[in-house]
Amino acid sequence: MAIRNIRTMGDDILTKHCKEVKEMTPKTRNLIEDMLDTMYLAGGVGLAAPQVGILKRIAVVDVGDGPIVMVNPEIVETAGEQSGMEGCLSLPGKHALVTRPNYVKIRAFDRNMEPFEAEGEELLARAILHEYDHLEGIMYVDIMEGELEDVPEEEE
Ligand code: NI
Repeated sequence: MAIRNIRTMGDDILTKHCKEVKEMTPKTRNLIEDMLDTMYLAGGVGLAAPQVGILKRIAVVDVGDGPIVMVNPEIVETAGEQSGMEGCLSLPGKHALVTRPNYVKIRAFDRNMEPFEAEGEELLARAILHEYDHLEGIMYVDIMEGELEDVPEEEE
């Protein structure tokens, strides 16, 4: 298990567009495992490769139903709307109101570069779309409504 350093807002790498993964290599497989370990240790529900300093189109999500590894994800469909407080491991202790689709369907490749489709609603949709944005260099602060707020300590 290897924990990677999570880049925080202000780090330029978080504003960059990530590059497609062409093939699965032992190094990339290792990165995915480290991203999962890092996300779980930090208590997050998602993590994208640029957050650990790697400009590749890889993100992991786990809202409590098991990990989803997304390599080169594409948004196939979105529907509905949800508004809620959203946070990010790159902005510890903060959250803000963000409106997103309530449903998302994606197409991606798994850690063996096998294609798959997944869909999610509510928190899972929010997490998938948040991580997808990271691959485009977008942080939730770019699309939030209102101001950043401190997360009450008991919720951290
Ligand atoms: Ni984030």
